[in-house]
Amino acid sequence: MGRTALLATESHTSDAPVYRGHPLLGAAPDFRRDPFDTLLRAARLGPVVRFRVPPGVPIRSYGLFSPECAQRVLVQETGGYTKDSAPYQEVAAAFGNGLLTAQREEWHRQRRFVAPLFTPRRLEQDYVPTLVAEGTLLRDRWLAAPEATLDVHAASVRYTLRAVGRMLFGADLDPLLPAFGPAFAQLNVHLRQRLTASLLAPRSWPTPGNLRGRKAQRSLYGMVDAIISDRQTAGRSEDDLLGRLLAARHAETGEGLTAGEVRDQVLIFLLAGQETTSTTLAFALQFLALHPQVQRRVAAEAAGVLDGGPPTGDAVRTMPYTQQVVKETMRLYPPAYAVSRYTHDGDVVGGVEILPESNVAVGTFALHRSPQLWPDPNRFDPDRFAPAQVESRHRYAWLPFGAGPRVCIGAQLAMIEATVAIALLTHRHVIVAARRDRPAAPVGAVPAGLVLRPAWPMPYRLVAQR
Ligand code: HEM
Repeated sequence: MGRTALLATESHTSDAPVYRGHPLLGAAPDFRRDPFDTLLRAARLGPVVRFRVPPGVPIRSYGLFSPECAQRVLVQETGGYTKDSAPYQEVAAAFGNGLLTAQREEWHRQRRFVAPLFTPRRLEQDYVPTLVAEGTLLRDRWLAAPEATLDVHAASVRYTLRAVGRMLFGADLDPLLPAFGPAFAQLNVHLRQRLTASLLAPRSWPTPGNLRGRKAQRSLYGMVDAIISDRQTAGRSEDDLLGRLLAARHAETGEGLTAGEVRDQVLIFLLAGQETTSTTLAFALQFLALHPQVQRRVAAEAAGVLDGGPPTGDAVRTMPYTQQVVKETMRLYPPAYAVSRYTHDGDVVGGVEILPESNVAVGTFALHRSPQLWPDPNRFDPDRFAPAQVESRHRYAWLPFGAGPRVCIGAQLAMIEATVAIALLTHRHVIVAARRDRPAAPVGAVPAGLVLRPAWPMPYRLVAQR
């Protein structure tokens, strides 16, 4: 339904309350300082909030903080909301035109193209064995480390990067590890600077920030091009993402994809699929160390499945409590802490008018900590995801993977990746703080580009169960 029709049917619409922020610069400095706290404070003003922008800035910006509003924008009115929002324009400029950023017919085509790689059968039969092998390697490396102590974030990055490399690109990405993390981190810093800048220089200007961003982008392009050319040289034709991209032909011309098209897709999958999952796994492992009684339940579940041998494809379904732990982790620390869209025509959401030509963001971080939806919202409690509790909540109260047609295509894969690793690690071992004489640091996150990541190092030990 278009805006005009909506306005005619709504009996009463009101203006959104305004989050003011800095008297001159509006909300941008607060987002730069602490986006999580800014989202939480904005959510207290109402389910739809307008963020003030500096005078003269033409674009408007809104935050949405209720499941109903999220449903309208992400699920029901998808025709009226596009990815032309400022954050997605920046992502597209930095990472190209892959499935995450593509739009309209081009997106439909790309989604149909990769969907066969994410069917339940594919996940269970092809990916679980890879994940079991990689999870076992993660456990063995952890045990072999000095004092069996590892930074769980770094270890999770290695596990997910290796796993994604093998599952989607048929490649060993270990050699890329030292350069990959810093290049991504640098590009994320650049993205975040641009997204929270009060005054934005055009991308083409040779500002120090733009130059650093371009350098990081070149470095990532180089790595992705190496993955692609290694595969072409090897001449293998596997039916994974890279194999499909290399074999694809344009419908009209019959020509293959250009090197740039293949690279964009590979890069977007690395962006969307790797960092989010490693962050989730790292936070989940930290929560387990901080909550021994939860860890004991997870270990008991792992024993029930793994005592009979390595997990098979359907193992994840037989570990419901471990999945609850992963879900509760993503409630408190949703890697994509906000999901943005753009409306050209405007809309009425929850009785509040959204003006034309606006950026609109579902404030996932704040939605996941709304006291109306989640009693005692800051407490870690995996039982919130027990079936009866899930039934009693609004379907869109929990949105770590987004919702609607653009929902994360890797959601099931991410759940399986985290669940398999946790099961293998806790089966015969216990995750504890690195120093018994010192309590572990609390869980904390910082923004990195459009995602969040752990705020500090996470050293933990893996010790044998007694
Ligand atoms: C815990 C892990 C993950 C989280 C929290 C996450 C989160 C998200 C979210 C919120 C979106 C929707 C963005 C929007 O609507 O604007 C999304 C889309 C996407 N994700 Fe994930 N993701 C995760 C893992 C993965 C994995 C493992 C892959 C692939 C290997 C992946 C690939 C993608 C792609 C390609 C899209 C774009 C889908 C489309 O627009 O059709 N993600 N993800």
